[in-house]
Amino acid sequence: MDIKGKVVIVTGASSGIGEATAREFAKEGARLVLAARRIDRLEELAKEIRAMASGAEALVVQADLSQLADIQSMVEQTLKQFGRIDVLVNNAGFGRLDWLEKLDPLKDIEAQLKVNVHGVIQTTRQVLPVMIKQRSGSIINMCSMAGLIGTPTYTIYSASKHAVHGFSEALRREVQPWGISVSMLYPGGVTTEFGQHAGINRKTKATTPKFLLLTADQVGREVVKLVTRPRAMRIIPWLWSLSAYLNKLWPAFVDYTTITRFTIPEREVELGIKS
Ligand SMILES: NC(=O)c1ccc[n+]([C@@H]2O[C@H](COP(=O)([O-])OP(=O)(O)OC[C@H]3O[C@@H](n4cnc5c(N)ncnc54)[C@H](OP(=O)(O)O)[C@@H]3O)[C@@H](O)[C@H]2O)c1
Repeated sequence: MDIKGKVVIVTGASSGIGEATAREFAKEGARLVLAARRIDRLEELAKEIRAMASGAEALVVQADLSQLADIQSMVEQTLKQFGRIDVLVNNAGFGRLDWLEKLDPLKDIEAQLKVNVHGVIQTTRQVLPVMIKQRSGSIINMCSMAGLIGTPTYTIYSASKHAVHGFSEALRREVQPWGISVSMLYPGGVTTEFGQHAGINRKTKATTPKFLLLTADQVGREVVKLVTRPRAMRIIPWLWSLSAYLNKLWPAFVDYTTITRFTIPEREVELGIKS
């Protein structure tokens, strides 16, 4: 797919991966729909995009992706302005990372599932009839390595991204005959505002090694690549594929290393191992 002039919806475009992805599409001359709750950030990005030499356009839509009415309005505004939808990047999402018993049932659990799962499903469902009518389209769902490997303190986030994985796989097999591709992107750690919202409170200070960390720009470029050369799924950096295979082939080993190297050191105070 040639990106020039294509209508691209990017959810969660107010920061991090979504913002970088929108910029990458804009460099190619796309007509962008920038959606999120923080309108000031979206307006700023839209201004930058409209000034680009590529001739890119930008429509700002304030939308809370946990609300069906906002999703419907986002799609209506897109069609009113541009008349079609070529690409949907389901990127908006967040994580609240703590032991399950410490997560708030509404603010952490329900809210996370509403945006990360329902948001993706409902947005796709609203956009799909348009793409079916066009007999073309590209849907990119932002998963995560947590959508392939369950890690302690990531229970709900991991559940949400596993749900996106299952949803995307099934959808891909539903819509392919209409000329619509569905791709899943699985980044490892990315330096964005994600951590600021996640409430991470680690005693071991365990974190992704620096050499495996991605920038939002790198992820944005991968999103564009998935549109121009669709693939069912892509793990970045590729090294993480090894841990995904290991987790599938030898889960007992991953259990052992995760529990001894992460869970017990983190839990030791609560378990009474250390005071
Ligand atoms: N950072 C990582 O390490 C990493 C790794 C793998 C996958 N991911 C995934 O990548 C995606 C983007 O995350 P990021 O790292 O770029 O984090 P980020 O910088 O915090 O961006 C999150 C984006 O999601 C939007 N969002 C959150 N709740 C929303 C809601 N209710 N309605 C509309 N928009 C909402 C935010 O916009 P507003 O707050 O303005 O609404 C923001 O634009 C997420 O799906 C995340 O799970 C991140």
